[in-house]
Amino acid sequence: MSESSFKLHSMELGPMENFVYLVEDVASRRCAVVDPAWEVERIVQRANELDLKITDILLTHSHHDHINGIEGVLEQASAEVHLLNPEYEFWQHELDKPSLHHGGDEIRLGESTILIHHTPGHTPGSACYQLGNEIITGDTLFVFGCGRCDFHGGSPEDMFVTLRNMKERLPADMLIHPGHNYSVQATSTLGEEFDGNPFMHYEDEESFVNYRMQVHDRTRDEPYAAVSKQQLKIANLL
Ligand SMILES: [Fe+2]
Repeated sequence: MSESSFKLHSMELGPMENFVYLVEDVASRRCAVVDPAWEVERIVQRANELDLKITDILLTHSHHDHINGIEGVLEQASAEVHLLNPEYEFWQHELDKPSLHHGGDEIRLGESTILIHHTPGHTPGSACYQLGNEIITGDTLFVFGCGRCDFHGGSPEDMFVTLRNMKERLPADMLIHPGHNYSVQATSTLGEEFDGNPFMHYEDEESFVNYRMQVHDRTRDEPYAAVSKQQLKIANLL
């Protein structure tokens, strides 16, 4: 197998266990910061230590805990800000010349290609960013969890379809990189999620919506551990 063109570096920052990622393009030394927030100095310092130039900012969605470092990064690097068009419309925030995308678009970062997936549910224009066999999932998919759908712009019906599409279309050996460190482990494969993420066990929309909106938050504690389909059945939750 050929060497990967990219490397992912994660940093856990701020009071809400956010993961900020640096996507390194090995050949060009360009880097994209995914969801810059909380501690801009540490983000910029990490890029400098790795000898990387920040040229791009990728947003998984527009919630405050994922975007509050954009301006700070832009003060120190001239970077292009990427997000999905529906998220920009939902957010209604002024950005200087943003790059607005649709699901299926690709972003070039030096020799690396970043494929954008539109994954609504947590917000209308939530995005996941795929590089090779790895995917940055923001607040769409956590290790053994998924994003809340009860905030403004959230839709549990959309989240049901989004997670079902991931299950049907993406390979089990793909590595996920979530937007928060809410689990017993920082990353997992989609195969581990298909087996151990309770939100992946629902096959009809109505029971998924009920679990997401009514049941999950009062029956589950952090850090999230794996929950099998059988365990949900035994607990009468499926
Ligand atoms: Fe969020």
